[in-house]
Amino acid sequence: MKRTLTDSFGRAHSYLRISLTDKCNLACAYCSPATHQTEKTNFSSQLSVDELERIMRIFIEQFGINKIRFTGGEPLVRKDILEIFKRAHQLKQKNNFELCLTSNGIFLADKIEELKEEGLDTINISLDSLNAKTFSLITGKDELASVLDAIDKAESLGFNPVKVNTVIIRDINDNELLDFVSFASERNFNIRFIEFMPFANNNWNERSLVPFEEMKQRIETEFRLLPIQTTKQSVAKNFSIEGKTGQVSFITSMSEHFCGDCNRLRLTASGSLKVCLFSEKEKDIPLLPLLRDATISDEETADIILHSLQKKGFAHAPLEELQQLDKNNMISIGG
Ligand code: GTP
Ligand code: 5AD
Repeated sequence: MKRTLTDSFGRAHSYLRISLTDKCNLACAYCSPATHQTEKTNFSSQLSVDELERIMRIFIEQFGINKIRFTGGEPLVRKDILEIFKRAHQLKQKNNFELCLTSNGIFLADKIEELKEEGLDTINISLDSLNAKTFSLITGKDELASVLDAIDKAESLGFNPVKVNTVIIRDINDNELLDFVSFASERNFNIRFIEFMPFANNNWNERSLVPFEEMKQRIETEFRLLPIQTTKQSVAKNFSIEGKTGQVSFITSMSEHFCGDCNRLRLTASGSLKVCLFSEKEKDIPLLPLLRDATISDEETADIILHSLQKKGFAHAPLEELQQLDKNNMISIGG
């Protein structure tokens, strides 16, 4: 019999985010700071296909979760990515769930068709600038064209909407807010403006954060945004653009957190369970030894997961404290 992954506040958890690797082919300072890139040992974490299959099976068969997202680093730097999808696809055929991917898009155009055949339901692509120079400045790579290609390909394959994740940082790319809305407006794109969040050594400061209300006001100088009703677990506030096909969303982690309806759990690239995006490193629960031990049953591992979930707090620490916490980098948590 399936159990519900309910925490001590009665929140049922149905969405698992799995970071497939902490390697990335981009080097965006807000996500993968220089300190992470120099610590070579950080770039060694990833679960095997069998370990990944086991963890997915536990969450699906023991807890009946309905959504799995692969994140990174960049999931597509894994050479065995197709095999990972094939295993997920096999699980999907027995117990349906939504299979999602967040990618930086660089290797995506060539792979997305196969991934779709292997059960990929929705795609979120990170893109922080539409300007080639700014794109290179943020990411360290001259790859804007590959990302735009992937976005086109995703749309042509029928992904609707194609979600585009844009982290807005003041004086870096906030001058592109209107360009991004124009970019999305005539297409089946959902442009999602994400408030910049503080993580280890990622140069966050209060000034660099452009809050939701400010972004919205700036966009409304040219476009009329109409609110769209969303599920209460959505991290995004969604809007249609009057008279257009595209959508605009805001992920307001900083100015208006959405912890109260949180239904998410995370597996880090090194195989630890994270009950909150902002929980401290030392609170991560290592699951890898359990996944590697054939004498420990799926039921026993599920017991440990459920027990660990009870330590989840109601909300993450307030902004002033968040900056001080010893958190992992986003590149190893996967967002
Ligand atoms: P959908 O399933 O399409 O709604 O995607 P998603 O927003 O869950 O996933 P995605 O990987 O596209 O993440 C978009 C942004 O939302 C990233 O900046 C994530 O860090 C942020 N995000 C996702 N979950 C949480 C969360 O639980 N808390 C906070 N604060 N931010 C989150
Ligand atoms: N603040 C907000 N969003 C971030 N992401 C990575 N680092 C941060 C940060 N510091 C986003 C990426 C990706 C998603 C998984 O998380 O841009 O789209």
